[in-house]
Amino acid sequence: MTDTKSPLRLGILGAGTIATAGYGILPNLGPIGDEIELVAIADPVLERAKQAADDFGFREAYSDLREMLDSAELDIVANLTPIFLHSETSRLIVERGKHLVSEKPLGATMEDADAIIEIAAANGATIVCAPPDMLFPPYMEARRLLDENTIGKVAFARVRSSHAGPGGGPGGWPLDPTWFYQKGSGPLLDMGVYGIHEITGLLGPAKRVSAFSGITEPIRTVRGGPFKGTEIEVTADDNSLFMLDFGGSTFAVVDGTFNVHAAKSPKLEIFGRRGAMNLYGDSPLEVYRADAAPGVDGWITPNYWPALSDERVDKLQRAILVDHLVDCVRNDKHPVLSAEHARHALEIMLAVTTSAREGKVVELKTTF
Ligand SMILES: NC(=O)c1ccc[n+]([C@@H]2O[C@H](COP(=O)([O-])OP(=O)(O)OC[C@H]3O[C@@H](n4cnc5c(N)ncnc54)[C@H](O)[C@@H]3O)[C@@H](O)[C@H]2O)c1
Repeated sequence: MTDTKSPLRLGILGAGTIATAGYGILPNLGPIGDEIELVAIADPVLERAKQAADDFGFREAYSDLREMLDSAELDIVANLTPIFLHSETSRLIVERGKHLVSEKPLGATMEDADAIIEIAAANGATIVCAPPDMLFPPYMEARRLLDENTIGKVAFARVRSSHAGPGGGPGGWPLDPTWFYQKGSGPLLDMGVYGIHEITGLLGPAKRVSAFSGITEPIRTVRGGPFKGTEIEVTADDNSLFMLDFGGSTFAVVDGTFNVHAAKSPKLEIFGRRGAMNLYGDSPLEVYRADAAPGVDGWITPNYWPALSDERVDKLQRAILVDHLVDCVRNDKHPVLSAEHARHALEIMLAVTTSAREGKVVELKTTF
């Protein structure tokens, strides 16, 4: 049973990029330093776990999850392993009654996601699942404005959810990015998940999916960094485009690819019957209103919009996942980044694959 008054004891699974990078979790735990105790970190590359333990102040380092769960006293485990390992590892974590921070996606199949949710509930474990975007001020503010009917009934949205792929930029990638391109992972699960999380976070659960998906080139070459020149066999689709039907003639088109070297369009554009809204991720929200003033249409240029900045959120970066879990456990809150939302996102991603393979529209069953 978690003692919610003392600092919550944190274990980390996976000491790779999202654990240790400047924008990742471990360097950004400062704002919640008093609320957590850094206990243990595990990675099959034990040297990597030990290095991270030294760098960030964890007491114990392990090469295996089971060993960490058997030996260390933990309240929370953050699962930062590669995508294809999430089902098996998260299940073990919640079986032991540990609260779980899961990197995206929640699991590989709907059965896995259901099992993780059910086992967690039976063992009193709370789950927070990435992406964190619906905790970021521009998305929260967009949600408020949509709920206030600011742009009227939403007709459709365009959602960008791609980059050039790990190792696809000139800076390369700190660790071998091969697994990102292979079966069990791929850009739909790695990147498409952001757009799905965002648009369903803003508009609510989707009802149907229709998709095209494929592999653009069978071999990719890492462009820079320590793995420069590594040739990667691409076995997961790296180019998925899909449409979501939210019912009532509200649609969204979303991409989840490793094929976007650059883009100048907003990350999300939402078009409503009374206006439009642009989101850029971490920069301000833009709102266009029909009849912004009597007889005047136009973009609204606020003098001051305090809800769009939050210094604490800026400082936390990816560690906001741990912050959110601590807040939910201590204050008995249901997470905004809930396992049910993550399961709905997973169902959409699985439906994308089915729709593209079978050339049909797929009905969705889950909600959140
Ligand atoms: N890299 C990013 O910029 C980024 C950003 C956001 C989210 N993520 C997500 O974070 C997760 C991890 O990605 P990453 O980029 O950090 O990967 P990575 O390849 O850089 O690191 C993964 C780490 O997990 C370790 N690992 C492998 N098998 C393990 C096991 N069974 N138990 C424990 N550790 C194991 C590896 O040795 C490695 O140190 C993925 O879900 C990814 O989608 C990554």
